[in-house]
Amino acid sequence: MELPKTCASAVLLVLSALGACAMDTYVAAVYEHNVVLSEDTEVPVSSEEALMLMEKNIAILEAAVKEAARQGANIIVTPEDGIYGWVFTRETIYPYLEDIPDPQVDWIPCVHPGRFAPSPVLERLSCLARSNSIYVVANMGDKKPCNSSDPRCPSDGHYQYNTNVVFDSEGKLVARYHKYNLFVTEKQFNYPKDPGFVTFNTSFGYFGIFTCADILYHDPAVVLASRFQVDTILFPTAWVNTLPLLSAVQFHSAWAMGMGVNFLSANTHNSTLDMTGSGIYAPDGPKAYYYSTEMDNGHLLVTELSSRPRLSPDYPAAVNWTLYASQTKQLPSNKHAFSGVIYHDLFSFTELTESEGNCAICQPDLCCHLSYKMVEKQQDEVYVLGAFDGLHVVEGEYYLQICTLLKCPSTNLSTCGQPVEMAQTKFEMFSLSGTFGTSYVFPEVLYSGVQLAPGEFEVLTDGRLRSRAPTSKPVLSVTLFGRWYEKDPPHTHQASP
Ligand SMILES: *[C@@H]1O[C@H](CO)[C@@H](O)[C@H](O)[C@H]1NC(C)=O
Ligand SMILES: *[C@@H]1O[C@H](CO)[C@@H](O)[C@H](O)[C@H]1NC(C)=O
Ligand SMILES: *[C@@H]1O[C@H](CO)[C@@H](O)[C@H](O)[C@H]1NC(C)=O
Ligand SMILES: *[C@@H]1O[C@H](CO)[C@@H](O)[C@H](O)[C@H]1NC(C)=O
Ligand SMILES: *[C@@H]1O[C@H](CO)[C@@H](O)[C@H](O)[C@H]1NC(C)=O
Repeated sequence: MELPKTCASAVLLVLSALGACAMDTYVAAVYEHNVVLSEDTEVPVSSEEALMLMEKNIAILEAAVKEAARQGANIIVTPEDGIYGWVFTRETIYPYLEDIPDPQVDWIPCVHPGRFAPSPVLERLSCLARSNSIYVVANMGDKKPCNSSDPRCPSDGHYQYNTNVVFDSEGKLVARYHKYNLFVTEKQFNYPKDPGFVTFNTSFGYFGIFTCADILYHDPAVVLASRFQVDTILFPTAWVNTLPLLSAVQFHSAWAMGMGVNFLSANTHNSTLDMTGSGIYAPDGPKAYYYSTEMDNGHLLVTELSSRPRLSPDYPAAVNWTLYASQTKQLPSNKHAFSGVIYHDLFSFTELTESEGNCAICQPDLCCHLSYKMVEKQQDEVYVLGAFDGLHVVEGEYYLQICTLLKCPSTNLSTCGQPVEMAQTKFEMFSLSGTFGTSYVFPEVLYSGVQLAPGEFEVLTDGRLRSRAPTSKPVLSVTLFGRWYEKDPPHTHQASP
């Protein structure tokens, strides 16, 4: 009789120890960084010069890490390209790269510098994490020697990867992720052979990581959220805002809601290139975000999040994205339909001519339905309902199904779909739905001034994106952004140089 009792108390002991360590909530930080750029990224520099530039950026990131730690943050995410900038060639990025070992080597660079190849940047980042007792997420370049025994090996004898690294609060390297979906302009880097599904556990949840354009594709992004069921995604990015549907805060917050994960997005800041928009997003809406085209300094966001959002009573229920629209009898009167282009895709539009009503618009297999009521119809402002069902082919190939209510830049209907940042019309209510063929739909609501609408809208389990109350600001767009991954062409690999 003695044995079971001992076992039971041992189990209790272990459970209570785990209970003491596991945190229900944690404090997350993201830093939007105005990167100090090299004078000329077309001319090769020495590794000393490269390090001097990287030190300038790390000094700025260090101040953000210290401030985040002072505010109690457990983890901080810094942006893609945040240590050396962008627009390099394969040759000119080389002096900035370090050979980053697999985290399985169990290495604290701050404590054992020089255990591997020279790694001044890894050492600095590791020490930042260790001396401030905070997880640090950064983006840098990895180089990996290869030779002719590998048919993919580039002719200069090494791979170059756009890489995220994560250090735990003791400075140990715990994650290394090579960006799988490079943007078309990133000629300085190689595609990894296969997508990496990089995860790690902490006392404040299960984490996954990917980078920038990865968010548009299935691997590894969707797999981390839906198969691995991570709690939080870490997302360094250098995102150029592309209104009306793909500005950073708008799309990243919508992805977090659509996939049901926490999402920590750190963007670079460059007003010339329209790069701004960082945030801390939860499955039920944005917790903190930043968007500024006026300031030219960095910006730190710090806020509390649930460690295990899937266990929270507020966790959104599963949505059938087609249920409501597929039962709607109302047929579209396409006689006033016209075409317009959003970011190279040919949408079908119909104008909202009245101050309230129901309307619909279809493209081959997608019908979009809208019920709406404006507070007041402005004479000098035009809104349309739009639908797109097709393969997007510019700067990446991916299949889209989109229903969108949006403001046109002018009363000239030919401008509908072009970017616009300001509006005057508030809505009493809106309810948008579509007959989606995919179950991956990201709900976006964007207000005048590229502002989000936390708490002001909801997604019903029948697939309606609906206002909860009259909008507090004028509306730029309300969108169901669907991605039909099964219809994407196969992942393309960059040819070796
Ligand atoms: C080439 O790569 C193979 C496999 O990594 C390795 O075993 C071999 O030693 C390398 N050869 C040279 C000349 O580096
Ligand atoms: C981390 O935790 C998740 C679930 O909480 C589990 O599925 C996964 O196997 C764990 N991973 C590791 C590496 O311990
Ligand atoms: C933005 O980046 C470009 C280089 O791509 C640079 O020329 C420009 O000065 C930067 N703008 C600001 C405001 O920092
Ligand atoms: C969603 O609703 C549609 C229409 O009623 C139905 O055909 C479909 O099976 C449902 N999908 C799921 C995943 O339940
Ligand atoms: C309407 O806008 C289109 C596209 O911007 C432009 O080409 C056209 O000239 C405009 N028409 C008028 C009447 O302003």
